[in-house]
Amino acid sequence: MARNRWYKDMVFYQIWPRSFKDGNGDGMGDLWGVLEKLDYIKSLGCDGIWFSPIYPSPGADCGYDIADYMDIAAEFGGMEAFRKVLEGVHERGMKLIMDLVVNHTSDEHEWFQKSRKRIEPYTDYYIWRDAKPDGKLPNNWDSNFEGKAWTWDEERGQYYLHLFAVKQPDLNMDNPLVREEVKKILRFWLDMGVDGFREDVITYISKKEGLPDDHLFPIYKGMPNYNHGPHIHEYLSEFKRDVFDHYDCFTLAEAPLVWPKQALKYIDEKTGQIDMMIQFQCQCADCLFTDYMPTKFSLTRMKKAFSDWQYKLAGRAWNMLYLENHDHPRIISRYGSEQFWAQSGKTLAASYLFQQGTPFLYQGQEIGMLNWRPHDPDMYEDVQTRYTYAHSNLKKSPAVRLQKMWRSSRDSARTLVQWDDSPNAGFTTAEKPWFYVNENYTRINVAAQENDPDSILNFYREAIRLRKSLPVVRHGVYKEHFASDSKLYIYSRAMKGEKLLVICSYSNDPVAMRVPAGFDLKNAELILTNYKTQGKLLQPYECRVYHWKK
Ligand code: NOJ
Repeated sequence: MARNRWYKDMVFYQIWPRSFKDGNGDGMGDLWGVLEKLDYIKSLGCDGIWFSPIYPSPGADCGYDIADYMDIAAEFGGMEAFRKVLEGVHERGMKLIMDLVVNHTSDEHEWFQKSRKRIEPYTDYYIWRDAKPDGKLPNNWDSNFEGKAWTWDEERGQYYLHLFAVKQPDLNMDNPLVREEVKKILRFWLDMGVDGFREDVITYISKKEGLPDDHLFPIYKGMPNYNHGPHIHEYLSEFKRDVFDHYDCFTLAEAPLVWPKQALKYIDEKTGQIDMMIQFQCQCADCLFTDYMPTKFSLTRMKKAFSDWQYKLAGRAWNMLYLENHDHPRIISRYGSEQFWAQSGKTLAASYLFQQGTPFLYQGQEIGMLNWRPHDPDMYEDVQTRYTYAHSNLKKSPAVRLQKMWRSSRDSARTLVQWDDSPNAGFTTAEKPWFYVNENYTRINVAAQENDPDSILNFYREAIRLRKSLPVVRHGVYKEHFASDSKLYIYSRAMKGEKLLVICSYSNDPVAMRVPAGFDLKNAELILTNYKTQGKLLQPYECRVYHWKK
């Protein structure tokens, strides 16, 4: 089936269901809650929804450890609620994509339970190895979350590989039966009417033959031997040929450590196997390649990453644009300024919403939710945060270690969505929700911003409305200006005489305005900004979007 690239005109909203909205009053976010909020999502101008996993799961990694791929967890409302949501989404002319997590399953998945007992055909569904003759682990790889990548299984008498938590054993994708299972899962959801998949760490699914030791990486040891592995394109082509090509759907691949040149091998519109890629370069402008180790935020590094992807994909592939998701702390706290909360929230929005690609918003981003700073490390839920706190910087005081978590923890993005200023931020009617609410909810919440024309929420709405109404945002040529400026991000889009110029300050102090040659502001219309008046100086975190009609 020829690919109908409808996703190019869309804006997606990511829902991390546990914390989005509780619809049945049990304290856990669920699909009944989503149903209540479909019109809200649509009112943002979003026409697609990506669900983080909602399948049955023991919850060792908040749903990214799946125990049954063909069902919806009862706590989220089961299949009944899902069908209603799917219908509600389609009725509104929107699309829905699911999270496909097939690098690993939960250790409670039936396949793993049978594999550890060597019950056929499941014996080789996972990656099992004996200890080395000297009793050591099969190789020197690290898991991404919890120490070494191997755990001994008494029942089977072997080690199994897990690139994430101990309860997330890696599937053996080299086994054709496993690939057939993946295809069954895909068809199951596509036949029900879902519109595509976000594919979790899909670039990890093909491991180097022999699982050799890694002598290259000082941390995340093993990554060069499983990221972009030897058969990755072959397996993805197989999924495309046997499944995706037969449906009107789209695919979005998560790829840690990827650069545009390599990404094109996956997403080139003529030769690729998937449609878009979630890369980490733009989001990790303040760290090496994960939030695990945050360094100082550098605007120039972030701009370079933005521009690299814009330039190198142009005309060949389509960018997925995002700043925030469930794996990263909140962007105002990371890249902007809590002091200039509203201004920096808006500048961040303008920084990416006028680039070429399909933007994604993460729940709460549209109201400028901020990082969470619990006073006790035991309040953290996330497996990665808990492990990191318990095992790193042990020579530092507990207070310093806790502060590092405030900066890096994924739980900052997982506190309850702040709907209003009632108890528990209007997330639930239950007395005790499953997780915490940021104590700033009486100040930062949807209800307070709905009727305020100057709110971050209404800025997002306007930016999205503009992006959809101006062809130059979809088609125009991107160009960055003053690339070495460490305080301003300035880019333009141009197409057949129509032009757009986006100027964003990332400074706490006023800075001189800069206008690139060839852009005469006298003939332009200022279509979006976050200050009431504009002077020669840009005020802290000021942004301006100028438009020249054809
Ligand atoms: C990436 C997901 O985004 C993250 O939340 C999850 O923990 C890991 N993959 C493992 O599935």
